[in-house]
Amino acid sequence: MSKPTYYITTPIYYSSGKLHIGHCYTTVICDAIARFKRMDGYDVFYLTGTDEHGQKVQQKAEAAGVTPKQFVDNLHEQIVKLWKVLNISYDKFIRTTDDYHEKAVQKIYEKLLASGDIYKSTYEGWYCTPCESFWTESQLVESKCPDCGREVRLQKEESYFFKLSKYSDRLIEFYKENPDFISPKSRMNEMINNFIKPGLKDLCISRTTFDWGVKLPFDPKHVAYVWVDALANYITALGYLQNDHSLYDKFWPADLHMVGKEIVRFHTIIWPALLMALGLPLPKKVYGHGWVLFGNDKMSKSKGNVVDPIVLADRYGADVVRYYLLREIPFGSDGSYTNEALLVRTNADLVNDLGNLVSRTTAMITQYFGGEIPAPDAYTELDKELVALCEGALDKVRADMDALSAPDALADIFKIIQRANKYIDETMPWTLNKNGDKARLGTVMYVLAECIRFSATLLSPFVPHTAERIFDKLGLDKPNDFSGLARFGGIGKGVTVHKGDNLFNRIDVDKELKELDKLAEQTNVEETEPQTPQISIEDFAKVKLVTAKVLSCEKVAKSDKLLVFKLQVGDEVRQVVSGIAQYYAPEYMVGKTVVLVANLKPAKIRGVESNGMILCAADGKKVVFVTPEAEIDSGKEVR
Ligand code: MSP
Repeated sequence: MSKPTYYITTPIYYSSGKLHIGHCYTTVICDAIARFKRMDGYDVFYLTGTDEHGQKVQQKAEAAGVTPKQFVDNLHEQIVKLWKVLNISYDKFIRTTDDYHEKAVQKIYEKLLASGDIYKSTYEGWYCTPCESFWTESQLVESKCPDCGREVRLQKEESYFFKLSKYSDRLIEFYKENPDFISPKSRMNEMINNFIKPGLKDLCISRTTFDWGVKLPFDPKHVAYVWVDALANYITALGYLQNDHSLYDKFWPADLHMVGKEIVRFHTIIWPALLMALGLPLPKKVYGHGWVLFGNDKMSKSKGNVVDPIVLADRYGADVVRYYLLREIPFGSDGSYTNEALLVRTNADLVNDLGNLVSRTTAMITQYFGGEIPAPDAYTELDKELVALCEGALDKVRADMDALSAPDALADIFKIIQRANKYIDETMPWTLNKNGDKARLGTVMYVLAECIRFSATLLSPFVPHTAERIFDKLGLDKPNDFSGLARFGGIGKGVTVHKGDNLFNRIDVDKELKELDKLAEQTNVEETEPQTPQISIEDFAKVKLVTAKVLSCEKVAKSDKLLVFKLQVGDEVRQVVSGIAQYYAPEYMVGKTVVLVANLKPAKIRGVESNGMILCAADGKKVVFVTPEAEIDSGKEVR
């Protein structure tokens, strides 16, 4: 009989900067789920990848002086390396610059055009480039992006629109019929109340102000909106609209799209509506997990609080990072990352509980039985308690994982480990040895070895490398599935343990905290996005800003951009050149009051002397001069 299938995806990661530990959260959780499902008898397809198009990438590439492709190639390499370090067992890595993906996205647009779901119009509204999100005026919070709090830009351009509004009712109906589609439940209410009920607007799905994207086949000066391009990855990766679509046939619809909470709306509104328009089945579940916070802030490079997962994995091993993320962050809600919690958790669970159990047991088997795991004698009531705990564990852990709760699953596995440590204290093997009670001593060793086998098998999806090392120490092959957990007593005759190195070394928390702080300073200095430097009030006082009245204004000969002004500044008349000819007619400027940087060094622009600079505001599309809110004389100080 063929195995049941399980298709799990992470979001595809933006290729515009290095990933921090918060990013690793989604991938590590998915990896644990994928590995668990594989061991639990599913035919799993685990997809991840990189989101490589868009204005943000284009801008960053320009700033770095490289082509967008060179820019994303470099980041792609770093991301693949990070997933390798963290032992991420994806089955496929998709890049949105992959040729097959781009072609399939073009076909998707053609299909949407043919089905009448796309029309051409003009977009006018606000755009947040870092989030690649469109917003209406009323959605902005204090004129900033409601998601990330950064500046938005006014955008006006000819665009293609997707008839998202048409799908409101069908979406609500779908949510009702599939109450588990959006998880946790609170996120479903958020989607309905904050987005669908206020009315869905048609979605702008093409851009013309930059060209780093998938060109629309029917209008190539437009590129696909990155979110449509990106969401499509979940089906293009499987071969949708391609010659070989066997993976699509086998795995679609996805069982689980795991996403961070800030992108739930793309996955539960836009994505299902697009799939409805394409006539395709909808994914079974979108889970919106919480954020790994740093203090109270979302980790982000611009805030300079990123924790580099490579640094942590290098120092403590990938499994320490994996274990911390899976065990410590309450699933579904936000959780704060602190170095201290990472180190304390590692010492408590991995060094003390797990590490000690394995080293004590292997040491005792080596000392008392020359390394060979002895056959057990009859089990006592105490032994039977441990047998029952082990035999009942898989069902418990499976239920935890069905609820997608890795912290609960790990807590249940650690119950075996903690119980076994207590069992050592209760049975006192050293006394049994002293008394020459070999039969009982053998049984105790066997029970302990079995407890370790059960724990390590169950731990495999979460800390795969550690599990492998434990099996190596036990002298057993690492199992590929959970079949060995049906019955206590799976270890046969003639198995020899090897104590070897400690699984984890105790961490000196105080010392390491200092080291990590030092390393973070370096990381954050190097990685912080360029920001405007802060200046002191004394620095600002050096700039002399004054009001000035335009006496005359003319175009500078042979220049499309320059205007030359005569300005009244108190008793003085100044000549200033300004590059605003494309935005203002000279006659319009006469009589206006402007703000002048009065102590700028004189300069010659196109041979014309300029004594100062007129202050203007710019949004990338237009430039407007700054003027006092009420009538005021010229030459007055602006502070
Ligand atoms: N490119 C989009 C996804 C497109 S999917 C069709 C994107 N990329 S991302 O790189 O910004 O985020 C990737 C994943 O990392 C998301 O699930 C996001 O929520 C997660 N995280 C990024 N920072 C995070 C934390 N600080 N904490 C937890 N997860 C966070 O969004």
